[in-house]
Amino acid sequence: MMIDPRTIMVKEKFAAFKYVIPVISGKGGVGKSIISTALSLVIAKKFKTGLLDLDFWGASDHLLLEAKNQFPEEEKGILPEEIKGVKFMTVAYYTQDQPLPMRGKEYTDAFLELMAVTRWDDTECLIIDMPPGMSDPFLDILKYVKNGNCLVITIPSRLSLNIVLKTLTILKEQNIKIMGLIENMRPTSNNNQRINELARSYKVPYLGFIPYYPDLDNYLDSLSDFISTDFFQQISSIVSKGLSL
Ligand SMILES: Nc1ncnc2c1ncn2[C@@H]1O[C@H](COP(=O)(O)OP(=O)(O)OP(=O)(O)O)[C@@H](O)[C@H]1O
Ligand SMILES: [Mg+2]
Repeated sequence: MMIDPRTIMVKEKFAAFKYVIPVISGKGGVGKSIISTALSLVIAKKFKTGLLDLDFWGASDHLLLEAKNQFPEEEKGILPEEIKGVKFMTVAYYTQDQPLPMRGKEYTDAFLELMAVTRWDDTECLIIDMPPGMSDPFLDILKYVKNGNCLVITIPSRLSLNIVLKTLTILKEQNIKIMGLIENMRPTSNNNQRINELARSYKVPYLGFIPYYPDLDNYLDSLSDFISTDFFQQISSIVSKGLSL
């Protein structure tokens, strides 16, 4: 059997970060991308931070960050674009924002290649925006990122919780660290402690909630508008109160 030399290199690259935070859920559309992006901008004030968008099918962080729609510079590897202190890598640089249908094996190949060529240099903290689901991207994180400390996102819906709890079960079975659970899009009328209690029953820290902001989308066209939102402020406060970094 041929051994792909990138597999060892990629494991070592992840192991070199002080913190690796995969932002996951299992469930789609719960806010992983917007939370990952805000989180990287907030953490960049304290640590040298990178953001890796691993949602190759539905990359979206480049839109929030207003990343340049051009190939990043190459110099003994690929230098990620730096945006407000965040070193940012996405497949969108290479697809020029075109659709990218691919099967699992093709995904893993692209993931290994992107990680192998990217020069994170002295980045201390890497945030990973994960696609939904438990297929290859999730399995690759379990395989290659042994020092991951996952941030799990849910919305208060039963339909989300059911899937998110399965994700927590797998992470626990695999002995992957879980930094905690964030409840997103909580309606203002909802004051119940259901998710907090659920987190406790799974022995996972409950890091707080983010309200549902009906007009948030109006602030996502420009990075400076995004940074000015209550949503962003809420992420800052979760980081300062809840994240053990
Ligand atoms: N607290 C919130 N209030 C209002 N809208 C929100 C909130 N959080 C996220 N959204 C909106 O919900 C939508 C989904 O968010 P996002 O794309 O970050 O989710 P995701 O989990 O990354 O989705 P996917 O599983 O497709 O990757 C976006 O339009 C985003 O702007
Ligand atoms: Mg997403």
